[in-house]
Amino acid sequence: MLLGTIGTNWITKQFIEAAELTGQLQLAAVYSRHADTGASLVDAFGHGQVYTNMQAFLASDVDVVYIASPNALHAQQAIAAINAGKHVLVEKPLVTHPSQLADLQHALDAHPEVMLFEAMRQLYDPNFAVIKDVIAKHPVSGATLTYMKYSSRYDAYLAGENPNIFTTKFAGGALMDLGVYLVGSAVAWFGKPQSATYLPHLLASGVDGDGVARLAYPDFDVVLRMGKTTNAYTTSEIYFGRDTLSFDSPGELNDLRWLATDQTQQLSVPHADNPMVEEANFFARVLSEHDTAAFQRQWTLAKQIHTVMGDLRQGTDLIFEMDPK
Ligand SMILES: NC(=O)c1ccc[n+]([C@@H]2O[C@H](COP(=O)([O-])OP(=O)(O)OC[C@H]3O[C@@H](n4cnc5c(N)ncnc54)[C@H](OP(=O)(O)O)[C@@H]3O)[C@@H](O)[C@H]2O)c1
Repeated sequence: MLLGTIGTNWITKQFIEAAELTGQLQLAAVYSRHADTGASLVDAFGHGQVYTNMQAFLASDVDVVYIASPNALHAQQAIAAINAGKHVLVEKPLVTHPSQLADLQHALDAHPEVMLFEAMRQLYDPNFAVIKDVIAKHPVSGATLTYMKYSSRYDAYLAGENPNIFTTKFAGGALMDLGVYLVGSAVAWFGKPQSATYLPHLLASGVDGDGVARLAYPDFDVVLRMGKTTNAYTTSEIYFGRDTLSFDSPGELNDLRWLATDQTQQLSVPHADNPMVEEANFFARVLSEHDTAAFQRQWTLAKQIHTVMGDLRQGTDLIFEMDPK
């Protein structure tokens, strides 16, 4: 299958490497607003054509489009690609407002041959399945999931620049960038919560630098801590009464430990060096086998995740420029 990409930052290069490792996807087209930026990505792989016109890019013979543009562009670019008859892999967050889910559904209904996936890499990490398996075997009594990383762009923000990820124009901030991993993991592991509330700490630009959320389930609560202005070294934990499952963070599943009163057991399994390899393998398999059941499962999960993301912003002052008025 021929792959086209939108966005030329490091994440796109990492995804193309992972996609080509599947042996089923090959880079054929790169969209960039700038010919020279597109050319340097194409040069890194030795093949592919650069487009600076979106319509021409979407009219090319690519089968699959990977979208890694700023968050606020994801839904509209995904809809344009679906309408052009391309399968679509969209970086997290798939949407920035839950109303866009209906727009995506409408486009998919008009193009039943097309599959759409949110590229939320941790869902495909083999350690994610290990955790899911533990949860299936033991009654959960709560969880604290943390993902806080000092952003490589925060210094520029503090210096008065306007990096996309710290703007409401591009739907940036902690919830959209890192919180989405926590919400995505919680919904995939525990299901859709009964209620979801968020206490964001807003920066002067209007996005959340960090925040704390609570997902309420009938028998337990899940606390989420997310942030882009500090580094957290604390582990994430899922509680099972006396026993605890501890791991780095839902976004980085390297070190899984089962902590019982009388013993500690290492549960981690090896995963690929490139953290996008497992998701690329999944997408390549599902697309090549036209596994519509797997697509529907992931699409249902994505809709649940982004309904919860919308619930979390309800009643807060975390408002993006493109939100429906
Ligand atoms: N899965 C992961 O591990 C992971 C890691 C990092 C990022 N991401 C996701 O990848 C996406 C991109 O993140 P990023 O940090 O790379 O974003 P970014 O640097 O702000 O923008 C990504 C690309 O979009 C294009 N772009 C930038 N500003 C634009 C504008 N004003 N209008 C239109 N296009 C613009 C640029 O490509 P051109 O200049 O070539 O057009 C740029 O390379 C985000 O959704 C993020 O959540 C995922």
